[in-house]
Amino acid sequence: MKTFENLLHAIGNTPLVRIPFDSQGNVYAKLEYLNPGGSIKDRAALFMIEEAERTGLLKPGGTLIEASSGNQGIATALIGAIKGYKVVITISEKISEEKQKTLQAYGAQLISCKPTLQLDDPNGYHAKAVEIHRSTPNSFMLNQYFNPTNSAAHYAMLGPEIWQQTHGNVTHYMAAAGSGGTVSGAGKYLKEKNHTLKVIAVDVENSYRSTNKNPKPYKLEGIGVDYDTPHLRNTIIDKYELVNDHDSIAMLQTMARKYGFLVGPSSGAVACAAERVARNLQKNDTMVIIFGDSGRAYLTKNFY
Ligand SMILES: Cc1ncc(COP(=O)(O)O)c(C=O)c1O
Repeated sequence: MKTFENLLHAIGNTPLVRIPFDSQGNVYAKLEYLNPGGSIKDRAALFMIEEAERTGLLKPGGTLIEASSGNQGIATALIGAIKGYKVVITISEKISEEKQKTLQAYGAQLISCKPTLQLDDPNGYHAKAVEIHRSTPNSFMLNQYFNPTNSAAHYAMLGPEIWQQTHGNVTHYMAAAGSGGTVSGAGKYLKEKNHTLKVIAVDVENSYRSTNKNPKPYKLEGIGVDYDTPHLRNTIIDKYELVNDHDSIAMLQTMARKYGFLVGPSSGAVACAAERVARNLQKNDTMVIIFGDSGRAYLTKNFY
């Protein structure tokens, strides 16, 4: 058991737990919902904020601004609270009530925007955050969708953890793609360690990327590539697995009732794709998948 002098030091080093899927290989889930802010996003937000402090883009008394599907905002609000920054988060109205209330609990100011199908929509939450950043003196926008430190955080931290926890035996790495930072950052690290390793990104079948720029609405949160992301590189991603609302939400129930993992929608989507891929794993294969957040943040959505 470890003791920490600062909550931020408790970010990362999450457990890796086997899921007994029907497979000749092994599937392990990295429980990112056990981070202090409850999601994978604690890692990326911490790296982006601390880099801005180092490079002088963020100064004492400053304001943190971010556009978020919830978790990146929650991580920003938590870190802002500890470090003493004011925090303004723009969100889509689509995100769960629990995530909105959590943001407020950490003292963040919330700006709610109409849901849009594409990130670059001028009425959307990303454009709103850019506008607030431009008009707020001494502010720093983390800008997860375009900031290279997003994927760099997962290269520096998540990738090495997975490599160590599997004793270098990981053969497949799978994660949900939103900004693409998680799948490509850790994917890059793991591929450098083992060039035969397969990196699998999970995307929504209605997303901007999957539909060749003709997106349709979907209910899943925290997953779905809604723009031309600089984080997803073809040299890193070997394959995209596509999921839909119906199957991912059904999988949330299976994960909770059959296996005891009460996870959020992006993890339901990943579990759905992982169960499919697991059927073709070979005896010595080890697939690591990312469970990005907990189902407790979505109970009012009645997915369970
Ligand atoms: C729960 C959850 N899972 C997965 C993701 C996707 O991560 P990334 O933006 O690194 O692609 C997000 C992003 O917000 C998320 O909140």
